[in-house]
Amino acid sequence: MKTILHLNSSIFGDGGQSSRLAKEFISQLPDARVVTRDLAARPLPHLDAERFGAFLSKPETRIPAQQAVLNESDALVAELKAADTIVLGLPMYNFGVPSQLKAYFDHVARAGVTFKYTEKGAVGLLTGKKAYVFAARGGLYQGTPRDTQTAYVREFLGFLGIMDVQFVYAEGLAISEVSKTQSLAAAQSSLRSLAQPERIAA
Ligand SMILES: Cc1cc2nc3c(=O)[nH]c(=O)nc-3n(C[C@H](O)[C@H](O)[C@H](O)COP(=O)(O)O)c2cc1C
Repeated sequence: MKTILHLNSSIFGDGGQSSRLAKEFISQLPDARVVTRDLAARPLPHLDAERFGAFLSKPETRIPAQQAVLNESDALVAELKAADTIVLGLPMYNFGVPSQLKAYFDHVARAGVTFKYTEKGAVGLLTGKKAYVFAARGGLYQGTPRDTQTAYVREFLGFLGIMDVQFVYAEGLAISEVSKTQSLAAAQSSLRSLAQPERIAA
């Protein structure tokens, strides 16, 4: 049985549009072990010099506080490594990704653990995974240079070796009720189409 890591980052929890779409997509997938992490309900601290220092610390000189930081990051990395599929709810807040998601990314980007440096540049170590991203936005950005989220999330996941990434967008949610209804219906239709090949392959 496959493992799905379901990451939500809406400040509205299960009620967020991105969370709802991610949940609906998972319900369309073949039976799997689903691990859910609500990054807004259980936020990670910002990465600071102390925490980053813990990532770099040598076992022989590591102090208990650094070990605790490392344990927390190691657990997040183990959870990510164990997943075959990552399903990410991605709200847009103030033109970017939720800061809680950024904090998560900062805790799983670990040199020598999730990526490594080579003579040819950085190489991601989390290969063989698929990611599905459910992006919810009040306005319209998809396909324009103003959509900085898509490039950033794709770049970050690719940096870790996760190259197979599909996005589903629900946009214009704040424009009008009609726009919201139509956009959510289109996103639901897209997620069903994306889930179908997974069901056929299962
Ligand atoms: C604090 C906050 C900031 C927002 N900033 C933007 C924004 O910059 N651009 C936009 O199109 N929509 C923005 N919105 C609207 C959200 O993208 C929209 O409500 C979306 O549904 C959020 O995803 P969620 O429902 O999963 O939380 C913002 C909403 C909130 C609450």
